[in-house]
Amino acid sequence: MTTMSRYLLLGLLVIATVGRADQPQYAAVASAHPLATEAGLEILRQGGNAFDAAVAISAALAVVEPSGSGLGGGGFWLLHRQSDNKEVMIDGREKAPGYANARMYLDEKDEVKPRASLDGPLAGGIPGVPAAIVYIAMNYGRLPLATSLAPAIRYARDGFAITEGLQKAIKGRSDVMSQYPPSAAIFLPDGKVPEAGQVLVQTDLANTLQSIADKGLAGFYYGDMAAKLIQGMQQFGGIWSLQDLEQYSVLERLPQKFTYRDISVVSASPPSSGGIVMAETLKILEHFDLRAMDRITRVHYVVEALRRAYRDRSVYLGDPDFIKVPVDRLLDPDYIEAMAMTISADKATPSDELGENPGPKQSGESTTHFSILDTEGNRVAATLSVNLTMGSGFVIPGTGVLVNNEMDDFSIKSGIPNSYGLVGFEANAIAPGKRPLSSMSPTFVESSDRIGLLGTPGGSRIISMVLLGILDFADGQLPESWVDLPRYHHQYKPDVVLYEPAAFNQQEQQQLKAMGYELRESNRLYGDMHAVMWDKRTGYVYAESDKRGEGAARILKPESKP
Ligand code: GLY
Repeated sequence: MTTMSRYLLLGLLVIATVGRADQPQYAAVASAHPLATEAGLEILRQGGNAFDAAVAISAALAVVEPSGSGLGGGGFWLLHRQSDNKEVMIDGREKAPGYANARMYLDEKDEVKPRASLDGPLAGGIPGVPAAIVYIAMNYGRLPLATSLAPAIRYARDGFAITEGLQKAIKGRSDVMSQYPPSAAIFLPDGKVPEAGQVLVQTDLANTLQSIADKGLAGFYYGDMAAKLIQGMQQFGGIWSLQDLEQYSVLERLPQKFTYRDISVVSASPPSSGGIVMAETLKILEHFDLRAMDRITRVHYVVEALRRAYRDRSVYLGDPDFIKVPVDRLLDPDYIEAMAMTISADKATPSDELGENPGPKQSGESTTHFSILDTEGNRVAATLSVNLTMGSGFVIPGTGVLVNNEMDDFSIKSGIPNSYGLVGFEANAIAPGKRPLSSMSPTFVESSDRIGLLGTPGGSRIISMVLLGILDFADGQLPESWVDLPRYHHQYKPDVVLYEPAAFNQQEQQQLKAMGYELRESNRLYGDMHAVMWDKRTGYVYAESDKRGEGAARILKPESKP
């Protein structure tokens, strides 16, 4: 054997033994439902890439976790293509229908009509999920769309066992769904909330998915299916038109990219507020040495930075196709420094001191997130939504499509908080064809030695949850820690720190109160983070699902491919 052949053999042995550090040893998938994760793995095993798996998981979640996302909803898919390092955000956010207007949820006295933007067909924006999965399959995947949709179609046609989480979600929205026979027929069989473990078959949804598998975009937005969707909406008082469906298109947008110390962050750009609010918050925090602080001092600075960034969200952010979002100004180093200087070392800043905006609040919880890494290094972080749990509660007859209530993410009336307690102004006012401002924040983080993918549902709290995950990544922690962290949140208005019971002990609560904070303990755990990490030094891959949810994180070893 020549010296050269001996080196080659040695090289091959090293690669076989320890894996190549410049590519992940395994593929990894983490999503909110074991069957959705399984759908992704099934497609990877068939030779699909992360983008095909994303199509499969998006469709599967529409079937098995309709409480969080679906064909009647929208979302943001953050993609990284390893071959050319392309990073892009697929914007499949819902759009306001053509007949929408800024006053559509106000009465003649300009008062907000209770629940008009939350329940029933009028609450729904034009869905983007069907268009996005077709687009991703055609432009980034390598398998036929029909192959990637097959697991979801199977789950819908054969049925699956309802989880406790879905049972609870159906129960919570049963009052609305019982008013709509097409919704009740699916989710309230015999007029009752189904038991956990009962099998849910969704034949109409299987047929709609099949129509998309057969015809692509035309299988939802044109022809017979479009006519069925519009007729069904109008029958129950909706305002969608055939033109709205024909005119819907996904957009490729540049993600929001920024650095936090030596970490690169890639996250959602407008019409999501996620990336900008996180960038503003983290850039303010760069002015302080968080690592040198005790825990509560650190919480104080994080909360104060969030307060300031969420304040700007309410005033300046909206759909960039309709308004000028002043990204450069919000992230200008002088502006950031000026904000950092307004933070007192030991006192909370009352939100009213930052500006005159009103706002009591409630909170919502729905949406879904998944993260995928394939062995080529392609990655997807996607956060999808129908907005609040089970969206508008209205299923379009004969289609199985549960309509979102994403219209509530618009500013329904200037200065009046939405269901997440978020206040908004002109920037996020309703206009035909406009996308409502979102908080969804699918995110990639990268240091010299690690790459992380993360995101979560949780309405307005999404941004602070992902931010805490990024800070944990910066501290060198692994995904298990990011997803399990006890959470706290501040969003400018209401001027309270919301926290999970495990976040602060009695003494820490006292410390925060002494600084002037009003604390509100969350009556339940919140978030459902699904994260993946690739250690570039070893090629090792980690995947974790939030223990608060019902999801599943799995690693796929290459030898398990056929
Ligand atoms: N519907 C939740 C969000 O987009 O932020």
